[in-house]
Amino acid sequence: MITPTRSITKETEALLNNQIILEGQASAYYLSMASWCETQGYDISSQFLYHHSEEERMHMLKLFKYINTAGGYALQP
Ligand SMILES: [Fe+2]
Repeated sequence: MITPTRSITKETEALLNNQIILEGQASAYYLSMASWCETQGYDISSQFLYHHSEEERMHMLKLFKYINTAGGYALQP
């Protein structure tokens, strides 16, 4: 359950929402690189990059949870 009390400043909320964008972009970049490696037969590199794409997405989701739990509003524009 999300706590209604705000314990995050608007400035921090904005900075973390910007970081959410960067984490999402990183996830997409790694996903694209994984796809290219897969089509070229670089299976080990592809697996590494798919995994890393997921890791970046998890970073993004952790920020979502943190912002909302702290009474802010997480966004992915
Ligand atoms: Fe990250």
